Amino acid sequence: MSERIERFVESMNIQPGDRVLEIGCGHGLAATLVCQRLKTGRFVAIDRSGKMVAAAAQRNKGYVEAGVARFLESTLEQLDLGDERFDKIFAMRVRLFHDQPELACELAQRWLTAHGTLYVQYDEPGQTPEANVTIWRAEQLT
Ligand SMILES: C[S@@+](CC[C@H](N)C(=O)[O-])C[C@H]1O[C@@H](n2cnc3c(N)ncnc32)[C@H](O)[C@@H]1O
Repeated sequence: MSERIERFVESMNIQPGDRVLEIGCGHGLAATLVCQRLKTGRFVAIDRSGKMVAAAAQRNKGYVEAGVARFLESTLEQLDLGDERFDKIFAMRVRLFHDQPELACELAQRWLTAHGTLYVQYDEPGQTPEANVTIWRAEQLT
């Protein structure tokens, strides 16, 4: 497990009842760490790559089968989760948050609860893992 991902997940202080959305889950490493912390909560991850979604779902098969986790193929831009809302949303190394941060936050914010929090980290692979996690509260984003 990557120290970068462990630190990031730690920084979100996931609670057992949290509803959590991950954008750009890749292989689903963070997903495992989040799901381990959930009891009544639930986890949804999206990735624009079907290959990554399949790999992440396979890695977290137990959580999928238990109804805790879902992995969906979608871009953030085209995401449609109906009326689902999340207490915590996070994205690591998803380029849209680096290239067009305002747009990315606006798109992510649609899925936050009124008091939810968005956690974003963008660093290039090989960069220091201490790269800051940027945190936005839903109240700041409206
Ligand atoms: C560099 S990888 C990072 C994976 C993982 N989050 C990590 O930190 O190890 C970026 C992932 O985000 C996905 N991705 C990039 N842009 C996206 C978007 N706009 N919507 C959904 N997924 C996206 C890519 O397919 C890829 O799996």
